Amino acid sequence: MSHYAVFGHPVSHSLSPRIHAAFGRQTGIELNYTAVDAAPEAFMQALDAFAAGGGRGANVTLPLKEAAFALCSATSERAQRAGAVNTLTRNDGQWHGDNTDGIGLVRDLTGRLRLDLRGRRALLLGAGGSARGVAPALLDAGVSELIIANRTPERADALADALGEPERAHSRYWEDLVNEGDFALIVNATSASRSGATEFSLPFQLSTPRTLAVDLNYGEAAIAFLAWARTAGCRDMVDGLGMLVEQAAAAFEIWHGVRPDTAPVYAALRGKDASLVTAD
Ligand code: ATR
Repeated sequence: MSHYAVFGHPVSHSLSPRIHAAFGRQTGIELNYTAVDAAPEAFMQALDAFAAGGGRGANVTLPLKEAAFALCSATSERAQRAGAVNTLTRNDGQWHGDNTDGIGLVRDLTGRLRLDLRGRRALLLGAGGSARGVAPALLDAGVSELIIANRTPERADALADALGEPERAHSRYWEDLVNEGDFALIVNATSASRSGATEFSLPFQLSTPRTLAVDLNYGEAAIAFLAWARTAGCRDMVDGLGMLVEQAAAAFEIWHGVRPDTAPVYAALRGKDASLVTAD
């Protein structure tokens, strides 16, 4: 039996063990997948111990994704563009890093939610690790424009510059968003709710009845932004649960060479009555 784990801090709430166990049952692949709580200063040691015990692959969640990137002997192009790793694979005694967050988001939007991102305007809120993970994938998916706004504007500028697509990726001051017209897609990649903010302040003009609002967080941490989206009249509101399942599926494929069917796993986690977190 091969060993896998998710590392994070905290990590007890993580759904990844359930998701990978479900994928394993579905594909007939025997695996053992656990959650390991590791504070940043203890991460390297915990990962070494995991490898010594036969660990073959690991997912990495907050706040360890940048540290994971730094310790890899090799990284994929998408991990380099994000500057962060969420999927580690043990090869020849070394860790190889990838980042499946961006492709996870895009697959959830274009697959489950059937959104065609090509030629659409997208607004990305936040410029931290989560935003860096998804921004390149949104560009790759063909958005016509990616506007990035962040509480600290310099970080939005830095992310826009790093994307290397000056025609399509631009930063804007949060307070100037009111002049930006509307968007087909608004993505909340801030950690505001996780750090206790209960209200989201954005101009309603950003949305139309065709706008899809996505929070990369799920559960309670998604409530404030999705409440804004509902009040603003967005068509659909979705949290990050679908992205979580899709990024896990992409990691599973890297490790096992098989692509699991995400739909039943998503439905089971969501509860069969609601495939979308909608206004009603
Ligand atoms: P993550 O890995 O979740 O992206 P991060 O790298 O710490 O975490 O980034 C957090 C993001 O949420 C940043 O864009 C941060 O804005 P700053 O760059 O100005 O710090 C944003 N954020 C956190 N708390 C916020 C708040 N109360 N209001 C708006 N943005 C907030």
